[in-house]
Amino acid sequence: MAEAHELRFRTPGLSIDTATLAAGSEAVCIFVNDDASAPVLQELKRAGVRFLVLRSAGFNNVDVEVAKALGIRVARVPAYSPYAVAEHTVALMLALNRKLVKAHNRVRDGNFSLDGLIGFDMHGKTAGILGTGKIGQLVAQILCGFGCHVLAYDPAPDAAWAERHGVTYVSQEALLAQSDLLSLHAPLTPQTQYLIRAETLAQMKDGVLIVNTGRGALIHTRDAIAALKTGKIGYLGLDVYEEERGLFFEDHSEEILQDDVIARLMTFPNVLITSHQAFLTDTALQNIADTTRANLDAFAAGGVCANEL
Ligand code: NAI
Repeated sequence: MAEAHELRFRTPGLSIDTATLAAGSEAVCIFVNDDASAPVLQELKRAGVRFLVLRSAGFNNVDVEVAKALGIRVARVPAYSPYAVAEHTVALMLALNRKLVKAHNRVRDGNFSLDGLIGFDMHGKTAGILGTGKIGQLVAQILCGFGCHVLAYDPAPDAAWAERHGVTYVSQEALLAQSDLLSLHAPLTPQTQYLIRAETLAQMKDGVLIVNTGRGALIHTRDAIAALKTGKIGYLGLDVYEEERGLFFEDHSEEILQDDVIARLMTFPNVLITSHQAFLTDTALQNIADTTRANLDAFAAGGVCANEL
């Protein structure tokens, strides 16, 4: 890439305050917590930017309509490794179920007791997959391998895939009502924002295990906290958080945490949070770099970019 394109690396994320740093660049390359909302795009346009290249699959942080209206083309990496995200999702489920973090800390402390470490068999449990795109399908297949009874909901169901893997499509209501394990793999859109909130939590089984490696705002976090306090949610695994911008991906260990909501979440023994790392495998990083380079090459060559939104 270094030979074909001149790269300028900027430490701060893209925001209204940093957009002017793009002056003199034709393309800007961003990640999930960069802000490409309308005012930022207008600033980029003024700076001369004509191409926004995302190193992510999700693009809820970009106002694509405004970008198009401004003549800024937008490309992403539609699939770099759905396996990476699916495997991390199941890692969160297993770590929560088998209380691996507590067990590890206990053993390191010289405490070899088993008190409080009882888990449950994944085998035979009902798992609900909300969103059966690339990642949701892989999570479903892994859970089928565990012997779970897998239910799915997707407004665009893939009947042939479900048939092949013994997955059953049901309504969202039925899925919420029947699942012991619930995994979120829908994109964040106005329709999916707060998919998990007081009203939908009330439809679920008591003690449900929920994992979200999709986008933070699929869950209304304060409602989830209320449901954790009553035991409605038995386990919560999060790789994403609705207020993660400015928090995740950075070392804040020397500061006083200002976000009282995540601070409360961190107090629950049955909540496990990772900092948007589900994508983070060597294979995924290589694929992100390769596709991003291909997107830039296509733009520079003036041709059509296959991954354009
Ligand atoms: P995809 O586009 O292949 O699949 C998304 C699926 O969700 C589609 O089948 C779509 O029909 C379905 N869907 C749309 N609205 C829905 C609704 N209301 N209820 C249920 N399903 C609905 O996307 P992919 O690659 O599977 O990724 C899913 C999401 O995972 C991305 O949008 C992104 O936000 C997130 N992601 C998170 C990563 C992480 O590191 N934590 C990494 C990559 C993606």
